[in-house]
Parts: sequence; structure tokens; C-alpha cells
Amino acid sequence: MAVEPLGWGRRLLMCPPEHFDVLYEINSWMHREVRVDPDAARAQWDGLVTVLKEVGAEVELMASVPGLPDLVFTANAGIVNGAQFIPARFRHPERQGETPYDVAWFTQHGSSVDYLPEGVSHEGAGDALPFGDVLVSGYRFRSDAASHAYLSRLTGAAVRSVELADERLYHLDLTFCPLDRRRAMVAPMGWDAYGRRVIEALVPEALVLEDDDALAFCANSVVVGTTVVMPSCPPRVGRRLEAWGFEVAVAPVPEFLKAGGGCRCLTLALDVTLGPCPPSGA
Ligand code: ARG
Repeated sequence: MAVEPLGWGRRLLMCPPEHFDVLYEINSWMHREVRVDPDAARAQWDGLVTVLKEVGAEVELMASVPGLPDLVFTANAGIVNGAQFIPARFRHPERQGETPYDVAWFTQHGSSVDYLPEGVSHEGAGDALPFGDVLVSGYRFRSDAASHAYLSRLTGAAVRSVELADERLYHLDLTFCPLDRRRAMVAPMGWDAYGRRVIEALVPEALVLEDDDALAFCANSVVVGTTVVMPSCPPRVGRRLEAWGFEVAVAPVPEFLKAGGGCRCLTLALDVTLGPCPPSGA
């Protein structure tokens, strides 16, 4: 079946890596003793922006802030639903200082802001991606299962919960990448048995990533129309995507992998509108 492009992913928020670094360890990829090369990081981030624009994305920028090295990972800013913005509630204090800057950006750009209750963690689009009519949301390492009911209440969307099972794949967007209306790249190694069943029931055609590909952050790709912008692409995965009618563009971001982030983490889709919950009984 021909690609039926996602209705979102063409307008992206990004933050330049001026203050990007690995200054603390909040996931298993981060090691303070590993040095980030700022020039290489800037060149890789510029390369990603260039590729995204070439394939038809519009990129909006927010300013980087000293002392907030992970602000580059805009995927975690929050949930976008049309003109509604629900800021993340970061699990770790190291990232909590980002939220006022995220809120300021969205307020200045005309969004209304709704908050999750205090004490309930959820790390934005890093742990929540729309697929079909529902919002798929991960929980355990960074987001609380309890956040999902609040998200559903605030957005009106049905939320499908998936428990993450491997601490190396600590956000949903390292395990799940919607490709079009029927297809997604999936990394079942990252989910518990029930989560696997949820995704199986939801995704008619899945490209199942092998464990090594998942751990190379293959699922952390940005889909712009019919192009999949990937941090790396094993030949088997590329062949399958191309057979389905996608083009693959590789934008290597090894400096950001040192912080546990890939291409998708560096972007936040601004053109997402979530569907309403189906009426009960439907
Ligand atoms: N160092 C960041 C953190 O651990 C990386 C965030 C990656 N973002 C993502 N959407 N997976 O919070």
C-alpha cells in the first residue's frame, strides 16, 4: 500500500546546542567523563536542520540557555495539541529548570498552557506520540502511568499506555516511530509483554527493529512526509522503508548520543492536533 503520510511532523521546534553538554547522568548513556565536542555538536545539529529543511520541514527555533544542557532535546518540552501546550513535568531536577523557557516560548507563540498536576511526571513528546486516532504514551523511567489519564482529560484524546522495560530505551521515542497512518518502526525489546500487545493491536504494519538497531537509536527518527530522517540506518531497515515508498535521509548526531538523544529528541512537532476520545462504548 502506498504511503499515507502522517498529518503532522512538518513544523518542528528546535533549540541550537550552544549550551549542550553532558554535565550530569540521568540516563545510562550519559557519562560525565565523556567530553562533548561543541564544534562537532554544532555541525551535526546544523546538518540535521539542513536535511529537515531540504525534505520539506519548517524549523522554528527557541533560544538555548546557559546551565540547561538538555534544552536542545525539545521533544521533551511537552505535549502539543493544536494551540494547547501541556508542559512536561520532568522526573529529574536537572531538567526541571527548562520548563519556564518552554512555557515562555509557547505563550509567546499564541498557545494556551494547561498543566499536569504537580508530582505527576511526564516528559512530553519524548514519551507520547500520536498514532492513528490515539496518543501512545510510555511510562516508567521518566513518565508516571498516572499521567496518562490526566493527559487524556486535558487533551480529549484516547491514550494507550505502554510500559517501558529497558532502561537504555528510557523514553517511548527510542522504541516507537510512527511512519504513516498504518505503519511504524517498533522496538519490542523496549516494552513489557502487555505493551507489546497494545502496539501489535494498534499498528497494522510494523517494521520490527532488531535489538542492536534499537540501541543505535534507529527508532529516534523524524518523519517528514515520505522521508525518514534517521541518526543511522542499517541496510535491512533502509530496504524495508524504501520498499514501502519512503526515502531515507541519514543525519548522524553522535555527539548527542552521548547524552542519550538522537534526531527525534532534537525536534518537537508543532503541527500535532490530537483526536478526541471515541464515545464510550464505541
Ligand atoms: N539527556 C537527555 C535526558 O536524559 C536526553 C533526552 C532524550 N530525549 C528523548 N526524547 N528521548 O533527559
